[in-house]
Amino acid sequence: MAPKYPYELDVFTVPHSRMKALVQQYCEMLTLTNFSSACEVMQLLKQLGTTFNEFKEHETIENKYIMQKLQHKLQQLSITNNVVCNCHKDYKLSQMLQLLEDGLSKCSKTDQDRLNYGLKLRMALDDFTKDFIPHMQEEEEILQPLLVEHFSYEELKEIQTQVIDHHTHL
Ligand code: FEO
Repeated sequence: MAPKYPYELDVFTVPHSRMKALVQQYCEMLTLTNFSSACEVMQLLKQLGTTFNEFKEHETIENKYIMQKLQHKLQQLSITNNVVCNCHKDYKLSQMLQLLEDGLSKCSKTDQDRLNYGLKLRMALDDFTKDFIPHMQEEEEILQPLLVEHFSYEELKEIQTQVIDHHTHL
């Protein structure tokens, strides 16, 4: 299917392709990890730590280069949009990072501790993924059209360049 927006105005598709690939990667890793092995759990947690820090960076970049600008623009036009305001409010990233940190301290404990932790981790990751995929879809389907509607071609092109540039430094 042809892209809906020209590349130079599309602020979400490229970074989200990366985020979706990371989701796919951790889902696969999770199914392959043996939670009775301290070494495998440690490896998984390290990878998840890197992944979730990248998600956090993605959120920070979006807040700085997209959400704040869009909110400001909508305020100038006296338009209220709850999606923009609440986009990153209840997003479970901090809880996931905390859970991963807790896991590192459980790695060296008993098999049972790791198995229990594994169950908790699977549930938390499922929960996170169930929110994260629709969250990205919402940004693509609701926020991208708003950006196109309310920013000029040059303004949005500049935002897109900043967003892409900052993601390539991740
Ligand atoms: Fe693009 Fe807010 O995740």
